[in-house]
Amino acid sequence: MDRATALVASVEEVAADVKAFRLVLEDEKNIPFEPGGHLDVEVLVGGQVQTRSYSMFRLDDEPGFAIAVKHAPHGHGGSAYMWSQKAGARLGVRRARNSLPMDYSANRYLLIAAGIGVTPIIAAARALHEAGKSVGMHYCVRRTSGAPFIAELERLLGGAIIVHASAGGQRTQADRLIEQVDSNTICYVCGPIGFMDELIHAWHRRGLPKHHLRFETFGSSGRLPTGKFEVVVRETGARVLVPEEMSMLDALIVAKQEVMYGCRRGECGLCKVEVDELDGEIDHRDVFLSDQERALNRAICCCVSRVRGHSIVIRADGISHGRPKHGLGRS
Ligand code: FES
Repeated sequence: MDRATALVASVEEVAADVKAFRLVLEDEKNIPFEPGGHLDVEVLVGGQVQTRSYSMFRLDDEPGFAIAVKHAPHGHGGSAYMWSQKAGARLGVRRARNSLPMDYSANRYLLIAAGIGVTPIIAAARALHEAGKSVGMHYCVRRTSGAPFIAELERLLGGAIIVHASAGGQRTQADRLIEQVDSNTICYVCGPIGFMDELIHAWHRRGLPKHHLRFETFGSSGRLPTGKFEVVVRETGARVLVPEEMSMLDALIVAKQEVMYGCRRGECGLCKVEVDELDGEIDHRDVFLSDQERALNRAICCCVSRVRGHSIVIRADGISHGRPKHGLGRS
């Protein structure tokens, strides 16, 4: 995809840990705005250029579009870089995939967002509202006060939005969020992996049409603490240290053990590699593998999942030394 330059037109702290950046592209034709679309932004982490993918959305008709970045103090460093950017900065960007393309064929829509997963849902809410569709929304937050974009969504959807706060220790069950859904409703969802997992299971329990559940995760939240570990690639013999601030996929790419990948969010399964040996525990952070596959620990989606422990030995099927055997996603 073509690289473009985006000017940071404004930065606003929309919650204690979330900043919204309004970006204006030097040439808008390169990256047209579309609901569900993502923008790959170049960030500098440990002196190296990496990319982070953010959902594009619009809150008004001003030029450009917005992205929102949640500060992750124990993350890989991308959010810290973004938080250091001020109005007037220029960022290298590329158009990325659209993981929640709009489908206007249904009569009813339900939108469900958890945490910072609200950003693609804002874009969907606006698009559906403008198309005159019937839209309901559940927004799951920790606390109502200070949660980002509630006022904007209420302005857009009026009484059709229900905010669920979990700070009191009561998290709304996934079954309850979809109890009103019928088979003519399309549901767009974005949230962390654990949340998505529950929702997917609830959706299947209800027997609702699989293809009516459209989802996107933000895939860095795990069950276990994030730490460093070593990956050994069986065929090439390469030993690659995965530092705390880097994904296993990025560490393999940096070490020229290039592996196929696509979404980088634990959804598509393209980065799945076979596990030969394991010294530790796998923290599966994807939504691609089945419960059975996860329990077996014979495969890992290396874009988001990690090892808690010492090391993992993977099979080099799909990996080659320095030269990809298959078409790569983005690098
Ligand atoms: S790249 Fe899609 S699941 Fe890892």
